[in-house]
Amino acid sequence: EMLEKGGYDHFMLKEIYEQPRSVRDCLRGRIYPQQGKVQLGGVKEYVEKLKNVDRIIIVACGTSWHAGLVGEYLIEEYARVPVEVEYASEFRYRNPIITEKDLVIAISQSGETADTMAAIELAKEKGATIFGICNVVGASIPRLSHAGVYTHAGPEIGVASTKAFTAQVTALTLMAFYIAQQRGTITESKLIEYLTELNEIPTLIEKTLKTNDHVQIIADKFKDSTNCLFLGRGSSFPVALEGALKLKEISYIHAEGYPAAEMKHGPIALIDEDMPVVFIATKNSSYEKVISNIQEVRARGGHVIAIVSEGDTVVRDMADYVIEIPQTSEAFVPLLATIPLQLLSYHIAVMRGCNVDQPRNLAKSVTVE
Ligand code: G6P
Repeated sequence: EMLEKGGYDHFMLKEIYEQPRSVRDCLRGRIYPQQGKVQLGGVKEYVEKLKNVDRIIIVACGTSWHAGLVGEYLIEEYARVPVEVEYASEFRYRNPIITEKDLVIAISQSGETADTMAAIELAKEKGATIFGICNVVGASIPRLSHAGVYTHAGPEIGVASTKAFTAQVTALTLMAFYIAQQRGTITESKLIEYLTELNEIPTLIEKTLKTNDHVQIIADKFKDSTNCLFLGRGSSFPVALEGALKLKEISYIHAEGYPAAEMKHGPIALIDEDMPVVFIATKNSSYEKVISNIQEVRARGGHVIAIVSEGDTVVRDMADYVIEIPQTSEAFVPLLATIPLQLLSYHIAVMRGCNVDQPRNLAKSVTVE
């Protein structure tokens, strides 16, 4: 088993470290930065559909649902198509309004999740076109779908999803730019710019992984916490949700992810000296707003751990701990900001003596309702 873990103590850690490779594999053969072109062979027969689609519905469960929320930001921003993101388990039971004009994108690592399959079947009956974004080649969901994109992250063994998540986000980023390209909602020069940057993301993930030792020190400070709050805005909000899910899944610390601005409508009541608050506070459009949220937490004695852009000094002076990640366009922040959060949960869970790869009560693939 040690051999299978490639010298790492756990599959989860191995899979975290595989991300430069898995994201590169997801991009391979699909982006042509110099020409400003995205190619998605698996959906190319549906180009006309993409040109005319009025609405996209994303269905998924768990971590895949978080990837869907990132996808919503990206598709709406670049392709300008309205997107709804649904928990498959809710969608399937509430007589949803779907027509043949809709495109449903089902996201699933395993391709076998019962609720997601049922959601697809329902949407198919109502005439929608179904795309699958899956990791496991030939699984049930790709077979049920009309077309799709494989994430190519490779087998994921750890129950808590890591590399499959970043590969899903990568596939959705490609999807957003692909649809944008078909609909002409992005200029060629912008696409050249973005794809050139996207091509460098695997290298930047590698750089981000170097935060590991520092994250381990932070983990040691907060390993005995009973609660933890994760806050972010824009596409960093789903990153906060995913950070919280990772922590609760493997360390059994109660954690919640929230949009930073919503904090004042509830979670702020929980903040005291025993409450670590993790912020995604990179230098993007909501930077200034997130800074005021950090000040609000500080004023109430909460401990702040902030994911910041390299070289940031403003947040450094406010936070108890900062974790620097490379500066990147807003579109790609989720792919980098997720990494230290995975490491933080991992180290905390190890320090608490938890079974990191197989947390209690959880299954890798939920094939029953
Ligand atoms: C389970 C797994 C999660 C996963 C979710 C959805 O709960 O433990 O890691 O995100 O199912 O699975 P899927 O294979 O559809 O992505």
